[in-house]
Amino acid sequence: MKSKVVSMDHYVIRGGNVLRGEVEIGGAKNAALAILAAAIMTDETVTIENMPDVRDTNVLLDAMAGIGVHIERVDRHTVKINGSMVQNVNIEYELIKKIRASYYLIGALLGKYREAEVPLPGGCNIGSRPIDQHLKGFRAIGADVKIDHGSIVATAEKLIGAHMYMDVVSVGATINVMMAASMAEGKTIIENAAKEPHVVDVANFLNSMGADIKGAGTDVIRIRGVEKLHGATYSIIPDQIEAGTFMFAAAVTKGDILVKDVIPKHLESITAKLLEMGCEVEELDDAVRVRYTGELHSTQIKTLPYPGFPTDMQPQAGITLALSEGVSTITESIFENRFRYVDEIIRMGADIKVEGNTAIITGVKGLTGAHISSPDLRAGAALVLAALSADGVSVVDDIHLIERGYEDFDVKLRALGGLIERVSDEEEIQKFRLRTQAI
Ligand code: UD1
Repeated sequence: MKSKVVSMDHYVIRGGNVLRGEVEIGGAKNAALAILAAAIMTDETVTIENMPDVRDTNVLLDAMAGIGVHIERVDRHTVKINGSMVQNVNIEYELIKKIRASYYLIGALLGKYREAEVPLPGGCNIGSRPIDQHLKGFRAIGADVKIDHGSIVATAEKLIGAHMYMDVVSVGATINVMMAASMAEGKTIIENAAKEPHVVDVANFLNSMGADIKGAGTDVIRIRGVEKLHGATYSIIPDQIEAGTFMFAAAVTKGDILVKDVIPKHLESITAKLLEMGCEVEELDDAVRVRYTGELHSTQIKTLPYPGFPTDMQPQAGITLALSEGVSTITESIFENRFRYVDEIIRMGADIKVEGNTAIITGVKGLTGAHISSPDLRAGAALVLAALSADGVSVVDDIHLIERGYEDFDVKLRALGGLIERVSDEEEIQKFRLRTQAI
């Protein structure tokens, strides 16, 4: 399987249509990345269902194939993985630098083979992203970890369970250490663990392979190491952030969207903010319906680890508040570089000032279409929502960043009534302009 060449495609969008209807949410990208890596920890075959077909998961699968993992695509959202033939534990740099989550291969390989060599990760440019807590955790269970020529080299004669305290709440470090510790000797306790739904999903997956992990979803995780893991069939949880993005799409386009195949509990912090902004949100068993019912109001948001408001929803909330009456503030407390959408949306007519890690947003009546570029995955998705609500045509560049984490984003938005197309040149943009003018 080869990764696709990064496309030079754009989205062209004519704003103004109200988004209405139903949308199905796919499997959680951030859970999938960890689960794919963890799947190689057994020599038996693992079947993973509800896999999102997005660039990040496809690149990770390529990296895994590169070290000899056997990968069979059963259908678009199901993959069989067999890690019995891993020939080396050294991952190719070109693949790894594209996605940060390839660092999960360190935890998986270290747990299974007691050694791993993985280049330092790339990923979204949303601020400094240290991995000291991952390394601290690996060292606590007995690994020798060093940085050598741009790679993390981890080796251990024995991995021995330990009691550790994470200095910051980190999703990645919690999952990575949980993976390695599940095959260590004895008991590991991770204090101040991340509680995100995908931490729980990875723990459930490892347990389905025979691991013994308790407490995932609380801030203390207890892991009793096992000697071997076995094959399993596992279905990934729905993507909280994809769901939240469509919830805000309803608000910002004055629409009415039934967001299906979700776990409403995972969306509570997002629901709470939409209610404060004056939307109607109805929670069903496995769906939420978000309805615009009149002018949106200002509110205050601070990003926090789960169950707080997710940093990955901050840009989508920001562009919605840009169109909400009054003055709102957003405080970003997880990543310092997450306001890169602000300059772009100011060019569309928003009134936002960023001071330190706080954005002060004064609501405006409307935005106007512009040629904008996607600074990172979530900011890009937020700008697409802004363009859908704006007057006139927008062109969004660098959409390969959006496609890292959204499957068929344009297709899903179109099905809801959005005038959006994926185009590759100026001629196609002109055709879109002419065609949609008449609508
Ligand atoms: C994951 C998500 C990302 C999301 C983020 C926070 C994946 C692939 N990505 O990223 O979409 O925005 O959680 O919910 O799942 N930190 C340290 N030392 C470390 C690790 C992290 O100081 O060793 C800091 C980070 O700089 C950041 C905070 O801890 O300020 C949280 O980061 P973390 O939860 O680790 O984020 P990721 O796992 O990288």
